[in-house]
Amino acid sequence: MRMVLDDVWYSYPGQRGWALRGVSVSFREGELVVLLGPNGSGKTTLLKVAGLLLKPQKGRVIVEGRDYWSQPEEARQAIKKKVVYVHERPIMLKGSVERNIAYGLFLRGYREEEALEKARRLLEELGGEKLAGKDARSLSFGEAQLVSIARALAVSPHILLLDDPLSGLDLERQELLLGFLESYKENGACIVMATHDMQASRRADKVFRINMGKVLMEARS
Ligand SMILES: Nc1ncnc2c1ncn2[C@@H]1O[C@H](COP(=O)(O)OP(=O)(O)OP(=O)(O)O)[C@@H](O)[C@H]1O
Ligand SMILES: [Mg+2]
Repeated sequence: MRMVLDDVWYSYPGQRGWALRGVSVSFREGELVVLLGPNGSGKTTLLKVAGLLLKPQKGRVIVEGRDYWSQPEEARQAIKKKVVYVHERPIMLKGSVERNIAYGLFLRGYREEEALEKARRLLEELGGEKLAGKDARSLSFGEAQLVSIARALAVSPHILLLDDPLSGLDLERQELLLGFLESYKENGACIVMATHDMQASRRADKVFRINMGKVLMEARS
């Protein structure tokens, strides 16, 4: 799935300044894209615009050739199902870890056993098998981060937007996650990751640098 942000400007309600100032970037299937930039530069804002959660005041968000925000509601919903944004602060729902991961699958009508099975498999691949039966609200920050990433992956998004996913993970789990994402994108997904991790940016197909709401450059790594 291809996405283009075309001269996007975004300002938070009640704020005077722009959080994004004329951002133009594009992502496509089979790509791992890394977004680098200092605190407050606009990474989260850009990911939320690409995640179809924030509507820019100016500019266009083009998904598969069509201007997303001028589509009728029904068409928007169909596109939105394929695009998942994972928050920088993990959000855990009540209940066990495996149910948290299976949540999106329950919504999509999967049978209970099938959904839980898929959740456990994903957790294992990401090195979190010990967490499966735990209460999701009792997890450490890094554990919760892992679970929220697994929850997003469970629904097989075409575009996956990860907001600083490595910050709470130990080195072994960072490696597992990056390896998993590299094989996941081979199936045609697009992954966009905001990070401060230079190691991770070396493994990207594309790197965008953002500062004060402007994308400064695009570099092949
Ligand atoms: N909900 C909000 N309301 C008002 N202003 C906001 C809001 N969220 C972010 N901002 C402002 O928008 C700008 C960009 O913030 P953003 O969260 O996108 O930065 P970031 O690059 O993700 O930073 P970090 O590396 O700390 O996560 C900042 O100036 C910030 O203060
Ligand atoms: Mg951020």
